[in-house]
Amino acid sequence: MLKNFEGYFDRDSEEYKLLLEILKKDLPSHIAIIMDGNGRWAKKRGLERIEGHKAGINAVREIVETSARLGIKYLTLYAFSVENWKRPKKEVLQLMGLLKRYLREELPLLLKNNVRLRTMGRIEELDATIRGLIHHVERQSAKNDGLNLNIALNYGGRTEIVDAFKKILDGYGENLTPSMIDESFISKYLYLPDVPDPDLLIRTSGELRVSNFLLWEIAYTELYFTKVFWPDFGTKEFLFAIRDFQKRERRFGGV
Ligand code: IPE
Ligand code: IPE
Ligand code: MG
Repeated sequence: MLKNFEGYFDRDSEEYKLLLEILKKDLPSHIAIIMDGNGRWAKKRGLERIEGHKAGINAVREIVETSARLGIKYLTLYAFSVENWKRPKKEVLQLMGLLKRYLREELPLLLKNNVRLRTMGRIEELDATIRGLIHHVERQSAKNDGLNLNIALNYGGRTEIVDAFKKILDGYGENLTPSMIDESFISKYLYLPDVPDPDLLIRTSGELRVSNFLLWEIAYTELYFTKVFWPDFGTKEFLFAIRDFQKRERRFGGV
């Protein structure tokens, strides 16, 4: 994977040293990120919150590209929660506007990096323009077999489980019997059933909570928290998180 970074970093940069270090060990195959702190990043600079969200998009671009170059298989980004509708209407509209812009502008770069984009969440509740753009990007990138980029949009971990129950009842109705239900059965009705559970969950901005993200899937995920606000989270911080993950001993309840 080192060759994918040729001309990307200086040989004597901290990033390059970190890269050499982390490439000696297995990388997490699925990384999930709660991208938090855009508002505080902006406030610290005396800017409107929207400026933080705009700067956050640059961080998304960088982390997606770095993940693709590293050969990470799955990256899941929390972009908008079912609870985020509680924000002022103006901010919600601005966030939806930025999402449209991202979906319109990002496709060439996603294709160039062999990224497949999919979404997870109650997409049917989003406006028709966004649904159309999502459909377009998903279809155009469907054959890419590099990084799987999952964007959690109008997503809630509990909502996902509720929606799974609904799909199960829709599919089986009265034919559902207790003996059919086990963990793998339930997993098949989550939003993206082919995606393995995250190995590493990163949350930026210093908040030490999960905020309704991937509740079912993170049962044995390693958690990493950093105080860095999302717009400042770059490749170096990302490599720090991966290096930290590589030092963990995962026991999954065993010894
Ligand atoms: C994360 O940044 C982006 C979204 C939730 C959409 P925030 O907007 O939550 O930023 P803070 O937490 O207020 O700083
Ligand atoms: C979680 O961040 C949601 C996203 C990053 C999209 P929030 O900023 O909404 O979470 P809380 O309110 O601090 O828990
Ligand atoms: Mg926040």
